[in-house]
Amino acid sequence: MSQSFINALINNPVFIMAIVPILLAVGYYLRKSCCPLTKSAALQISSMAKGKNEKSATITSAQKMAERPFGHWEPDYDFKTPTPNEYKGWSLTDTKPIAYRAFRHKYTVNMGIRPMDWDNWIELDNNWLKYHNLKKERLAERGDKLYAIDPCAMDAAWEVLDELCRYLPARYPTMFEFDKDKRIMKILPTKEVFDFNEEGFNPILTCGLLIQDDIVIMVESKKDGSYSLQGGCACLPGFWKLTEKYKMTLDQLHTEAGVPKYKSHLATGMNKFFRRLTVDKPVFRNNYFLQLDGYLGWSKSLGDEDDDKWFGWKVATPATDISDIHFRSERQSLRRLPISGAVIFTVRSYFIPMTELCEEPYVPRRLLNGITSWTEDVGEYKGFHKFKDILLPYLEEKAKEQEEQGLDYSKEPQNFPYGA
Ligand code: HEM
Repeated sequence: MSQSFINALINNPVFIMAIVPILLAVGYYLRKSCCPLTKSAALQISSMAKGKNEKSATITSAQKMAERPFGHWEPDYDFKTPTPNEYKGWSLTDTKPIAYRAFRHKYTVNMGIRPMDWDNWIELDNNWLKYHNLKKERLAERGDKLYAIDPCAMDAAWEVLDELCRYLPARYPTMFEFDKDKRIMKILPTKEVFDFNEEGFNPILTCGLLIQDDIVIMVESKKDGSYSLQGGCACLPGFWKLTEKYKMTLDQLHTEAGVPKYKSHLATGMNKFFRRLTVDKPVFRNNYFLQLDGYLGWSKSLGDEDDDKWFGWKVATPATDISDIHFRSERQSLRRLPISGAVIFTVRSYFIPMTELCEEPYVPRRLLNGITSWTEDVGEYKGFHKFKDILLPYLEEKAKEQEEQGLDYSKEPQNFPYGA
Protein backbone atom coordinates (compact mmCIF):
# COMPACT_ATOMS: atom_id res chain seq x y z
CA MET A 1 0.00 0.00 0.00
CA SER A 2 1.43 3.33 -0.92
CA GLN A 3 1.92 6.10 1.62
CA SER A 4 -0.42 8.40 -0.36
CA PHE A 5 -3.19 5.75 -0.23
CA ILE A 6 -2.81 5.44 3.57
CA ASN A 7 -2.84 9.23 3.94
CA ALA A 8 -6.02 9.41 1.86
CA LEU A 9 -7.66 6.80 4.12
CA ILE A 10 -6.80 8.39 7.45
CA ASN A 11 -7.91 11.78 6.21
CA ASN A 12 -11.25 10.37 5.13
CA PRO A 13 -13.91 10.94 7.85
CA VAL A 14 -16.11 8.08 6.57
CA PHE A 15 -13.23 5.63 6.96
CA ILE A 16 -12.47 6.91 10.48
CA MET A 17 -16.11 6.58 11.55
CA ALA A 18 -16.23 3.01 10.27
CA ILE A 19 -12.90 1.83 11.69
CA VAL A 20 -13.09 3.26 15.24
CA PRO A 21 -15.95 1.02 16.47
CA ILE A 22 -14.24 -2.03 14.89
CA LEU A 23 -10.97 -1.25 16.67
CA LEU A 24 -12.79 -0.74 19.98
CA ALA A 25 -14.62 -4.05 19.61
CA VAL A 26 -11.39 -5.92 18.78
CA GLY A 27 -9.63 -4.29 21.75
CA TYR A 28 -12.44 -5.26 24.10
CA TYR A 29 -12.42 -8.85 22.84
CA LEU A 30 -8.64 -9.14 23.17
CA ARG A 31 -8.70 -7.73 26.68
CA LYS A 32 -11.38 -10.17 27.79
CA SER A 33 -9.77 -13.20 26.27
CA CYS A 34 -6.29 -12.30 27.50
CA CYS A 35 -7.27 -11.75 31.13
CA PRO A 36 -10.34 -13.82 31.90
CA LEU A 37 -10.47 -13.00 35.61
CA THR A 38 -12.44 -15.73 37.24
CA LYS A 39 -14.26 -14.79 40.39
CA SER A 40 -12.18 -16.93 42.71
CA ALA A 41 -8.88 -15.89 41.16
CA ALA A 42 -9.92 -12.31 41.53
CA LEU A 43 -10.84 -12.72 45.14
CA GLN A 44 -7.46 -14.08 46.05
CA ILE A 45 -6.18 -10.65 45.31
CA SER A 46 -8.94 -8.77 47.08
CA SER A 47 -7.96 -5.67 48.94
CA MET A 48 -7.87 -7.65 52.20
CA ALA A 49 -5.13 -9.78 50.68
CA LYS A 50 -1.73 -8.35 49.86
CA GLY A 51 -1.23 -6.47 46.59
CA LYS A 52 -3.64 -5.40 43.92
CA ASN A 53 -4.28 -6.41 40.38
CA GLU A 54 -3.92 -3.58 37.93
CA LYS A 55 -6.50 -4.91 35.49
CA SER A 56 -9.82 -3.21 35.72
CA ALA A 57 -13.26 -4.34 34.74
CA THR A 58 -15.27 -1.31 35.74
CA ILE A 59 -18.92 -1.80 35.11
CA THR A 60 -20.73 1.42 35.53
CA SER A 61 -24.03 1.32 33.76
CA ALA A 62 -27.14 -0.45 34.95
CA GLN A 63 -27.70 -1.58 31.37
CA LYS A 64 -24.35 -3.37 31.26
CA MET A 65 -25.12 -4.94 34.60
CA ALA A 66 -28.36 -6.32 33.24
CA GLU A 67 -26.56 -7.82 30.22
CA ARG A 68 -24.16 -9.89 32.36
CA PRO A 69 -24.62 -13.65 32.37
CA PHE A 70 -26.44 -14.74 35.54
CA GLY A 71 -24.17 -14.94 38.58
CA HIS A 72 -21.21 -13.52 36.70
CA TRP A 73 -19.12 -10.75 38.17
CA GLU A 74 -15.83 -9.28 37.05
CA PRO A 75 -14.01 -7.75 40.00
CA ASP A 76 -13.73 -4.01 39.72
CA TYR A 77 -10.29 -3.06 41.02
CA ASP A 78 -10.67 0.51 39.86
CA PHE A 79 -13.52 1.27 42.18
CA LYS A 80 -12.50 2.47 45.62
CA THR A 81 -15.22 3.23 48.10
CA PRO A 82 -14.80 6.93 48.82
CA THR A 83 -13.23 7.49 52.23
CA PRO A 84 -15.91 9.13 54.38
CA ASN A 85 -15.46 12.48 56.01
CA GLU A 86 -14.91 12.35 59.72
CA TYR A 87 -18.14 12.89 61.66
CA LYS A 88 -16.86 15.97 63.51
CA GLY A 89 -18.02 16.19 67.10
CA TRP A 90 -19.48 12.68 67.11
CA SER A 91 -19.70 11.39 70.65
CA LEU A 92 -20.51 7.99 72.09
CA THR A 93 -22.39 9.69 74.91
CA ASP A 94 -23.94 12.75 73.27
CA THR A 95 -24.77 12.05 69.63
CA LYS A 96 -28.48 11.31 69.55
CA PRO A 97 -30.04 8.76 67.19
CA ILE A 98 -31.36 10.28 63.97
CA ALA A 99 -35.08 10.91 64.28
CA TYR A 100 -36.42 8.78 61.45
CA ARG A 101 -40.16 9.33 61.18
CA ALA A 102 -40.76 7.33 58.04
CA PHE A 103 -44.52 7.74 57.77
CA ARG A 104 -46.72 9.96 55.67
CA HIS A 105 -50.37 10.98 55.95
CA LYS A 106 -51.08 8.29 53.37
CA TYR A 107 -49.40 4.89 53.29
CA THR A 108 -48.33 3.38 49.98
CA VAL A 109 -46.45 0.18 49.24
CA ASN A 110 -43.37 0.93 47.15
CA MET A 111 -39.64 0.30 47.13
CA GLY A 112 -38.92 3.78 48.44
CA ILE A 113 -35.18 3.70 47.76
CA ARG A 114 -33.08 6.85 47.66
CA PRO A 115 -29.42 7.49 46.78
CA MET A 116 -27.12 7.20 49.79
CA ASP A 117 -24.24 9.51 50.56
CA TRP A 118 -21.12 7.39 51.24
CA ASP A 119 -20.52 9.30 54.48
CA ASN A 120 -23.74 7.84 55.87
CA TRP A 121 -23.25 4.17 55.08
CA ILE A 122 -23.18 3.22 58.75
CA GLU A 123 -24.86 5.41 61.35
CA LEU A 124 -23.70 5.24 64.94
CA ASP A 125 -24.94 7.19 67.94
CA ASN A 126 -25.10 7.23 71.72
CA ASN A 127 -27.09 3.98 71.69
CA TRP A 128 -24.07 2.13 70.28
CA LEU A 129 -23.03 0.65 73.63
CA LYS A 130 -26.57 -0.45 74.45
CA TYR A 131 -26.91 -2.16 71.06
CA HIS A 132 -23.44 -3.68 71.32
CA ASN A 133 -24.08 -5.13 74.78
CA LEU A 134 -27.46 -6.46 73.74
CA LYS A 135 -25.91 -8.10 70.69
CA LYS A 136 -23.27 -9.75 72.86
CA GLU A 137 -25.89 -10.88 75.38
CA ARG A 138 -28.04 -12.40 72.68
CA LEU A 139 -25.03 -14.03 71.02
CA ALA A 140 -24.07 -15.60 74.34
CA GLU A 141 -27.60 -16.99 74.68
CA ARG A 142 -28.40 -17.90 71.10
CA GLY A 143 -25.00 -18.33 69.43
CA ASP A 144 -25.09 -19.30 65.79
CA LYS A 145 -28.84 -18.88 65.54
CA LEU A 146 -27.99 -15.23 64.97
CA TYR A 147 -25.31 -15.51 62.30
CA ALA A 148 -24.51 -17.75 59.38
CA ILE A 149 -22.29 -17.87 56.35
CA ASP A 150 -22.24 -20.13 53.33
CA PRO A 151 -18.82 -20.76 51.74
CA CYS A 152 -20.04 -18.97 48.59
CA ALA A 153 -20.35 -15.75 50.64
CA MET A 154 -17.11 -16.05 52.62
CA ASP A 155 -15.09 -13.82 50.27
CA ALA A 156 -17.84 -11.21 50.44
CA ALA A 157 -17.79 -11.40 54.26
CA TRP A 158 -14.04 -10.62 54.28
CA GLU A 159 -14.56 -7.90 51.74
CA VAL A 160 -17.30 -6.16 53.68
CA LEU A 161 -15.20 -6.41 56.84
CA ASP A 162 -12.37 -4.80 54.91
CA GLU A 163 -14.73 -2.02 53.82
CA LEU A 164 -15.85 -1.47 57.42
CA CYS A 165 -12.23 -1.36 58.61
CA ARG A 166 -11.59 1.48 56.21
CA TYR A 167 -14.91 3.25 56.74
CA LEU A 168 -15.36 3.14 60.53
CA PRO A 169 -12.00 4.58 61.73
CA ALA A 170 -12.25 7.36 59.14
CA ARG A 171 -15.82 8.26 60.03
CA TYR A 172 -15.65 7.65 63.80
CA PRO A 173 -11.96 7.98 64.75
CA THR A 174 -12.71 8.15 68.47
CA MET A 175 -14.36 4.72 68.28
CA PHE A 176 -12.17 2.57 66.03
CA GLU A 177 -8.55 1.96 65.19
CA PHE A 178 -7.50 -0.44 62.45
CA ASP A 179 -3.97 -1.77 62.01
CA LYS A 180 -3.90 -2.83 58.38
CA ASP A 181 -0.56 -4.64 58.56
CA LYS A 182 -1.34 -6.59 61.73
CA ARG A 183 -4.98 -7.01 60.66
CA ILE A 184 -6.29 -5.95 64.03
CA MET A 185 -9.39 -3.84 64.65
CA LYS A 186 -9.86 -2.12 68.00
CA ILE A 187 -13.00 -0.66 69.50
CA LEU A 188 -11.40 2.08 71.55
CA PRO A 189 -14.00 2.82 74.26
CA THR A 190 -14.55 -0.86 75.15
CA LYS A 191 -10.91 -1.84 74.49
CA GLU A 192 -12.12 -4.84 72.48
CA VAL A 193 -9.62 -6.24 70.02
CA PHE A 194 -10.53 -8.24 66.91
CA ASP A 195 -7.55 -10.13 65.60
CA PHE A 196 -8.31 -11.29 62.07
CA ASN A 197 -5.44 -13.77 62.15
CA GLU A 198 -6.96 -15.85 64.92
CA GLU A 199 -7.93 -19.42 64.15
CA GLY A 200 -11.67 -19.64 63.48
CA PHE A 201 -12.09 -15.87 63.18
CA ASN A 202 -15.53 -15.12 61.75
CA PRO A 203 -15.64 -12.02 59.54
CA ILE A 204 -19.42 -11.63 59.37
CA LEU A 205 -19.84 -11.97 63.13
CA THR A 206 -17.21 -9.28 63.62
CA CYS A 207 -19.01 -6.99 61.17
CA GLY A 208 -22.15 -7.44 63.26
CA LEU A 209 -20.31 -6.55 66.48
CA LEU A 210 -18.73 -3.37 65.15
CA ILE A 211 -21.92 -1.66 64.08
CA GLN A 212 -25.42 -1.11 65.42
CA ASP A 213 -26.99 -2.61 62.29
CA ASP A 214 -27.80 -6.16 61.36
CA ILE A 215 -26.02 -7.12 58.16
CA VAL A 216 -26.84 -9.51 55.35
CA ILE A 217 -24.98 -10.78 52.27
CA MET A 218 -27.03 -11.39 49.13
CA VAL A 219 -25.45 -13.46 46.34
CA GLU A 220 -26.59 -13.69 42.73
CA SER A 221 -27.48 -17.13 41.41
CA LYS A 222 -25.77 -18.53 38.32
CA LYS A 223 -28.95 -20.39 37.50
CA ASP A 224 -31.47 -17.59 37.17
CA GLY A 225 -29.86 -14.35 38.40
CA SER A 226 -31.98 -14.26 41.56
CA TYR A 227 -30.46 -13.03 44.83
CA SER A 228 -30.44 -15.11 47.96
CA LEU A 229 -29.34 -14.62 51.55
CA GLN A 230 -26.05 -16.50 51.84
CA GLY A 231 -24.69 -14.93 54.99
CA GLY A 232 -25.33 -12.44 57.71
CA CYS A 233 -25.38 -11.46 61.34
CA ALA A 234 -28.83 -10.44 62.56
CA CYS A 235 -28.80 -10.00 66.34
CA LEU A 236 -31.54 -7.37 66.64
CA PRO A 237 -34.07 -8.07 63.90
CA GLY A 238 -37.18 -7.82 66.08
CA PHE A 239 -39.55 -9.81 63.88
CA TRP A 240 -37.59 -12.21 61.70
CA LYS A 241 -34.94 -14.84 62.21
CA LEU A 242 -31.79 -15.36 60.24
CA THR A 243 -31.97 -19.14 60.58
CA GLU A 244 -35.40 -19.10 58.99
CA LYS A 245 -34.43 -16.77 56.14
CA TYR A 246 -30.99 -18.25 55.45
CA LYS A 247 -30.66 -19.29 51.78
CA MET A 248 -33.98 -17.76 50.78
CA THR A 249 -34.28 -15.76 47.60
CA LEU A 250 -35.57 -12.19 47.67
CA ASP A 251 -38.97 -13.46 46.55
CA GLN A 252 -39.09 -16.15 49.22
CA LEU A 253 -37.93 -13.75 51.93
CA HIS A 254 -40.81 -11.43 51.22
CA THR A 255 -43.58 -13.83 50.35
CA GLU A 256 -42.88 -15.99 53.42
CA ALA A 257 -43.10 -12.85 55.57
CA GLY A 258 -46.44 -12.02 53.94
CA VAL A 259 -45.30 -8.61 52.71
CA PRO A 260 -48.47 -7.08 51.26
CA LYS A 261 -48.61 -6.51 47.52
CA TYR A 262 -45.16 -8.02 47.14
CA LYS A 263 -45.93 -9.83 43.91
CA SER A 264 -47.97 -7.02 42.34
CA HIS A 265 -45.99 -3.95 43.46
CA LEU A 266 -42.47 -4.99 44.44
CA ALA A 267 -41.12 -8.28 43.09
CA THR A 268 -40.29 -7.29 39.52
CA GLY A 269 -38.79 -3.93 40.42
CA MET A 270 -36.73 -5.33 43.28
CA ASN A 271 -35.26 -8.23 41.33
CA LYS A 272 -34.38 -5.89 38.50
CA PHE A 273 -32.90 -3.41 40.92
CA PHE A 274 -30.62 -6.02 42.52
CA ARG A 275 -29.29 -7.26 39.17
CA ARG A 276 -28.59 -3.72 38.01
CA LEU A 277 -27.17 -2.19 41.19
CA THR A 278 -23.75 -0.72 40.40
CA VAL A 279 -20.87 -0.42 42.86
CA ASP A 280 -20.94 3.37 42.83
CA LYS A 281 -24.63 3.92 43.56
CA PRO A 282 -25.54 2.79 47.08
CA VAL A 283 -29.09 3.39 48.24
CA PHE A 284 -31.12 3.39 51.41
CA ARG A 285 -34.74 3.07 52.42
CA ASN A 286 -36.80 3.42 55.60
CA ASN A 287 -39.85 1.71 56.99
CA TYR A 288 -41.76 1.57 60.25
CA PHE A 289 -43.56 -0.93 62.43
CA LEU A 290 -45.47 -0.78 65.69
CA GLN A 291 -44.28 -3.15 68.36
CA LEU A 292 -46.24 -4.12 71.48
CA ASP A 293 -43.31 -4.45 73.86
CA GLY A 294 -40.00 -2.75 74.54
CA TYR A 295 -37.65 -5.51 73.34
CA LEU A 296 -35.31 -4.46 70.59
CA GLY A 297 -33.74 -7.85 69.85
CA TRP A 298 -36.82 -9.99 69.56
CA SER A 299 -40.37 -8.69 69.97
CA LYS A 300 -41.55 -11.05 72.71
CA SER A 301 -45.22 -10.13 72.35
CA LEU A 302 -45.13 -11.95 68.98
CA GLY A 303 -44.32 -15.25 70.67
CA ASP A 304 -41.34 -17.37 71.60
CA GLU A 305 -38.31 -16.78 69.40
CA ASP A 306 -37.63 -20.51 69.36
CA ASP A 307 -41.12 -21.50 68.36
CA ASP A 308 -41.05 -21.66 64.59
CA LYS A 309 -44.79 -22.13 64.17
CA TRP A 310 -46.49 -20.01 66.85
CA PHE A 311 -45.09 -16.59 66.45
CA GLY A 312 -46.22 -13.50 64.61
CA TRP A 313 -49.23 -11.20 64.75
CA LYS A 314 -51.70 -14.08 64.64
CA VAL A 315 -50.65 -15.17 68.12
CA ALA A 316 -49.53 -11.79 69.49
CA THR A 317 -50.70 -10.55 72.86
CA PRO A 318 -52.82 -7.43 72.20
CA ALA A 319 -51.68 -4.12 73.67
CA THR A 320 -53.45 -3.19 76.89
CA ASP A 321 -51.78 0.13 77.57
CA ILE A 322 -50.12 2.82 75.48
CA SER A 323 -46.86 2.20 77.36
CA ASP A 324 -46.73 -1.22 75.63
CA ILE A 325 -46.55 0.33 72.18
CA HIS A 326 -43.18 1.19 70.65
CA PHE A 327 -42.28 2.71 67.33
CA ARG A 328 -39.68 0.82 65.36
CA SER A 329 -38.19 2.26 62.21
CA GLU A 330 -35.58 0.54 60.10
CA ARG A 331 -33.02 2.34 58.03
CA GLN A 332 -31.76 -0.10 55.42
CA SER A 333 -28.80 0.37 53.09
CA LEU A 334 -27.85 -1.53 49.97
CA ARG A 335 -24.56 -1.50 48.12
CA ARG A 336 -22.65 -3.80 45.81
CA LEU A 337 -19.14 -4.85 46.75
CA PRO A 338 -16.63 -4.25 43.96
CA ILE A 339 -14.53 -7.39 44.23
CA SER A 340 -16.96 -10.18 45.06
CA GLY A 341 -19.99 -8.50 43.46
CA ALA A 342 -22.19 -9.50 46.41
CA VAL A 343 -24.87 -7.08 47.61
CA ILE A 344 -24.67 -5.97 51.23
CA PHE A 345 -27.90 -5.14 53.01
CA THR A 346 -27.73 -3.39 56.38
CA VAL A 347 -30.68 -2.91 58.68
CA ARG A 348 -30.45 -0.40 61.48
CA SER A 349 -33.43 -0.33 63.85
CA TYR A 350 -34.42 2.86 65.61
CA PHE A 351 -36.71 2.25 68.53
CA ILE A 352 -38.67 4.56 70.86
CA PRO A 353 -41.77 4.41 73.06
CA MET A 354 -44.95 5.71 71.42
CA THR A 355 -45.53 8.15 74.28
CA GLU A 356 -42.17 9.78 73.56
CA LEU A 357 -42.76 9.89 69.80
CA CYS A 358 -46.11 11.62 70.25
CA GLU A 359 -44.52 14.58 72.01
CA GLU A 360 -43.14 15.67 68.64
CA PRO A 361 -45.13 18.22 66.66
CA TYR A 362 -47.23 16.87 63.75
CA VAL A 363 -46.45 13.24 64.61
CA PRO A 364 -49.74 12.10 66.21
CA ARG A 365 -51.98 13.34 63.37
CA ARG A 366 -49.63 12.18 60.63
CA LEU A 367 -49.22 8.73 62.17
CA LEU A 368 -52.97 8.45 62.77
CA ASN A 369 -53.73 9.37 59.16
CA GLY A 370 -51.03 7.01 57.94
CA ILE A 371 -52.29 4.06 59.97
CA THR A 372 -55.94 4.60 59.12
CA SER A 373 -55.01 4.71 55.42
CA TRP A 374 -53.59 1.18 55.58
CA THR A 375 -55.46 -1.25 53.37
CA GLU A 376 -56.79 -4.45 54.96
CA ASP A 377 -53.74 -6.50 53.89
CA VAL A 378 -51.28 -3.90 55.21
CA GLY A 379 -53.20 -3.77 58.51
CA GLU A 380 -53.00 -7.53 58.80
CA TYR A 381 -49.27 -7.52 58.08
CA LYS A 382 -48.59 -4.71 60.57
CA GLY A 383 -50.77 -6.06 63.39
CA PHE A 384 -53.45 -3.32 63.27
CA HIS A 385 -56.07 -5.35 65.15
CA LYS A 386 -53.73 -5.97 68.07
CA PHE A 387 -53.20 -2.33 68.95
CA LYS A 388 -55.90 -0.23 67.27
CA ASP A 389 -58.15 0.08 70.35
CA ILE A 390 -55.33 1.52 72.41
CA LEU A 391 -53.34 3.43 69.82
CA LEU A 392 -55.96 5.19 67.70
CA PRO A 393 -57.73 7.02 70.57
CA TYR A 394 -54.35 7.98 71.99
CA LEU A 395 -53.12 9.44 68.70
CA GLU A 396 -56.40 11.33 68.28
CA GLU A 397 -56.12 12.78 71.77
CA LYS A 398 -52.48 13.85 71.30
CA ALA A 399 -53.21 15.32 67.86
CA LYS A 400 -56.10 17.37 69.26
CA GLU A 401 -53.90 18.54 72.11
CA GLN A 402 -51.33 19.87 69.64
CA GLU A 403 -54.02 21.45 67.46
CA GLU A 404 -55.60 23.22 70.40
CA GLN A 405 -52.20 24.65 71.19
CA GLY A 406 -52.18 26.21 67.72
CA LEU A 407 -50.20 23.73 65.57
CA ASP A 408 -50.16 25.07 62.01
CA TYR A 409 -50.31 22.30 59.38
CA SER A 410 -49.29 24.69 56.62
CA LYS A 411 -45.89 24.73 58.34
CA GLU A 412 -45.54 20.96 58.59
CA PRO A 413 -42.03 20.08 57.33
CA GLN A 414 -42.02 17.91 54.22
CA ASN A 415 -38.78 16.10 54.91
CA PHE A 416 -39.57 12.39 54.82
CA PRO A 417 -38.12 10.23 56.37
CA TYR A 418 -37.03 12.66 59.08
CA GLY A 419 -38.91 14.29 61.92
CA ALA A 420 -39.79 17.94 62.42
C1 HEM B 1 -34.59 -2.98 47.47
C2 HEM B 1 -34.56 -3.81 48.48
C3 HEM B 1 -35.75 -4.16 49.31
C4 HEM B 1 -36.99 -3.65 49.32
C5 HEM B 1 -37.55 -2.54 48.46
C6 HEM B 1 -37.74 -4.36 50.35
C7 HEM B 1 -39.07 -4.13 50.66
C8 HEM B 1 -39.71 -4.65 51.73
C9 HEM B 1 -41.00 -4.23 52.18
C10 HEM B 1 -41.86 -3.16 51.52
C11 HEM B 1 -41.29 -4.92 53.29
C12 HEM B 1 -42.51 -4.74 54.18
C13 HEM B 1 -42.10 -3.90 55.38
C14 HEM B 1 -41.51 -2.59 54.95
O1 HEM B 1 -42.27 -1.70 54.62
O2 HEM B 1 -40.28 -2.50 54.92
C15 HEM B 1 -40.19 -5.82 53.53
C16 HEM B 1 -40.12 -6.71 54.55
C17 HEM B 1 -39.09 -7.58 54.71
N1 HEM B 1 -37.92 -7.61 53.99
FE1 HEM B 1 -37.46 -6.50 52.43
N2 HEM B 1 -36.93 -5.28 50.92
C18 HEM B 1 -35.70 -5.20 50.32
C19 HEM B 1 -34.61 -5.97 50.58
C20 HEM B 1 -34.59 -6.96 51.49
C21 HEM B 1 -33.46 -7.82 51.72
C22 HEM B 1 -32.12 -7.75 51.00
C23 HEM B 1 -33.81 -8.66 52.70
C24 HEM B 1 -32.89 -9.69 53.26
C25 HEM B 1 -32.91 -10.06 54.50
C26 HEM B 1 -35.18 -8.33 53.11
C27 HEM B 1 -35.89 -8.97 54.09
C28 HEM B 1 -37.15 -8.61 54.50
C29 HEM B 1 -37.85 -9.27 55.57
C30 HEM B 1 -37.35 -10.43 56.42
C31 HEM B 1 -39.06 -8.61 55.71
C32 HEM B 1 -40.16 -8.94 56.69
C33 HEM B 1 -40.00 -8.22 58.00
C34 HEM B 1 -41.16 -8.63 58.85
O3 HEM B 1 -42.21 -8.04 58.69
O4 HEM B 1 -41.00 -9.58 59.59
N3 HEM B 1 -35.60 -7.30 52.34
N4 HEM B 1 -39.23 -5.63 52.56
